[in-house]
Amino acid sequence: MIPFLDLKAQYSQIKPEIDAAVARVIGSGHFVLGPEVTAFEGRFAGYCRTAHCRAVNTGTSALHLALLTAGVGPGDEVITVSMTFVATTAAIIYSGAKPVFVDVDPVTWTMDPGLIEAAITPRTKAILPVHLHGLMADMDPIMAIARRHGLVVIEDAAQAHGAEYRGRRAGSIGDLGCFSFYPGKNLGAFGEGGAVVTDRPEFAHRVSLLRDWGQEAKYDHAIPGYNYRMDEIQSAILNVKLDYIESWTEARRSAAEQYNALLSELPFARPQPPGHARHVYHVYAVRLEERDHALSLLRDAGIGAGIHYPVPVHLQRAYAELGYRAGDLPVTEMLANDFLSLPIYPELQPEQAAEVVATLRNAAMLRPSEAVGARAEHPQSVMTWSHNRRAS
Ligand SMILES: Cc1ncc(COP(=O)(O)O)c(C=O)c1O
Repeated sequence: MIPFLDLKAQYSQIKPEIDAAVARVIGSGHFVLGPEVTAFEGRFAGYCRTAHCRAVNTGTSALHLALLTAGVGPGDEVITVSMTFVATTAAIIYSGAKPVFVDVDPVTWTMDPGLIEAAITPRTKAILPVHLHGLMADMDPIMAIARRHGLVVIEDAAQAHGAEYRGRRAGSIGDLGCFSFYPGKNLGAFGEGGAVVTDRPEFAHRVSLLRDWGQEAKYDHAIPGYNYRMDEIQSAILNVKLDYIESWTEARRSAAEQYNALLSELPFARPQPPGHARHVYHVYAVRLEERDHALSLLRDAGIGAGIHYPVPVHLQRAYAELGYRAGDLPVTEMLANDFLSLPIYPELQPEQAAEVVATLRNAAMLRPSEAVGARAEHPQSVMTWSHNRRAS
């Protein structure tokens, strides 16, 4: 059995510290927006190399408040991607704005900057790239386009704690950066959590107000707000975990390197981070045409595998009103068809990664395919299993 994710393994390493931190909060009688939250905000801002951090109750709330803080509202358009978790789109809709999807790059799987300018209209207010699977989007051209057109940039860094682009941390390049601390994230709470980071003090102040009913002081409501506060127990847990995030991230990166080496003889696409990037491997995905077959074989072998994401947001029933159709975002749709996420977490052992790859290889041998070769229209596309079958 190799689980897709092993949260118990992580807890067992740091149990005494976590238990003490939780007990300390319970003993303090202070449960929401207290000293643990303030301490976490200071430390997480430092980790992201930003001036400010405001902790909130979920990553979705972080995105919602970042959009409101940037002045996004009804009648506006926000350029984003459809190859993401649905929360990115949902937050734009919560703000009253309309999501406008551009396709992703077939190699990095993040927002294709070459498609942004064609999507800009007089209503465009912001660009919201997603650092998918832990690899940052191509931020330099995105920022250049945004500055040229007077647009705000909000980074969805929910999957990218500690990721870097040309030496700059996720969340620190755009005007605002948003994180999730959902338990399975690289930095995960024991419940829900999120944060907005920014260098601009007026933005940080706005997020502070919006997350807590718009209160400047108790019962002094300066603006209408929300109850998006982070609680003390989650912050206390995150304060403990923040001491480990770098070593955990390096362990993820080692596991990814091992997968890269083991998979190099199998002809399907692996993550290809640019040389300047620090990929933090929240997800390690490969691409293969016979994905569903491989997924079921892995699962039969007791190996947790997943798909991130099988149906892109623009083709979800919930967002049919946006008017997109199959074929509108060809790279996104291709990835949704052939992405396969392998187990990855800091505690994944080398022999476990080897077993995952051995199972994939066996699957390849058992299933000759009718189709062969890379798909002509997408040179970076995956090849089929049969292409790799060797005489034995
Ligand atoms: C890319 C992305 N954006 C936003 C979110 C929303 O975060 P949360 O679940 O904390 O609301 C998630 C994760 O769930 C995510 O993966």
